[in-house]
Amino acid sequence: MGVPIRVTVNDVARDLEVEPRLLLVHMLRDRLGLTGTHVGCDTSNCGACTVHLDGHAVKSCTVLAVQTDGAHVTTIEGMAKDGVLHPLQEAFWDNHGLQCGYCTPGMIMAASELLAHNPDPTEEEVRTSLEGNLCRCTGYHNIVKAVLDAAKHPEGGRIPVPPPAGRTDITIGGVGG
Ligand code: FES
Ligand code: FES
Repeated sequence: MGVPIRVTVNDVARDLEVEPRLLLVHMLRDRLGLTGTHVGCDTSNCGACTVHLDGHAVKSCTVLAVQTDGAHVTTIEGMAKDGVLHPLQEAFWDNHGLQCGYCTPGMIMAASELLAHNPDPTEEEVRTSLEGNLCRCTGYHNIVKAVLDAAKHPEGGRIPVPPPAGRTDITIGGVGG
């Protein structure tokens, strides 16, 4: 039997009935058609499924859809604003920060949370913050370059939904390892 939830996804309120065991990543992909959020493993390791939950980057394969009742979720589809790509999306393009692109949405969602809290990170800080996101193609070098490049942009740390005041971490499926 489904559980009714109301969740705002990319600024649109959605009323859904979901199975209690349904994962957020499957709700996004299979119920809402937001297939930019990828599934790259079944071990919570790859980070390809990273989205923002109330402004924090989380691995959506580790969150139940019912846990998002009343929350704001942002996916890669919600990062562009008024038809203009997010500076991180532009920077990945400019710096060739991808090859197959499978990891890219998760990388961008994780990196955007980093820049929101640390607008001028060191290379080491970028590498550390992306430890929970795996890439099989690029060797990471251009991904790191892209994030450092986006940090120079005044809106590089823009995230569509800021975290609630006073909340600086998240305990369900946070990225970073
Ligand atoms: Fe790999 Fe979520 S699908 S961490
Ligand atoms: Fe292919 Fe990262 S670009 S997995």
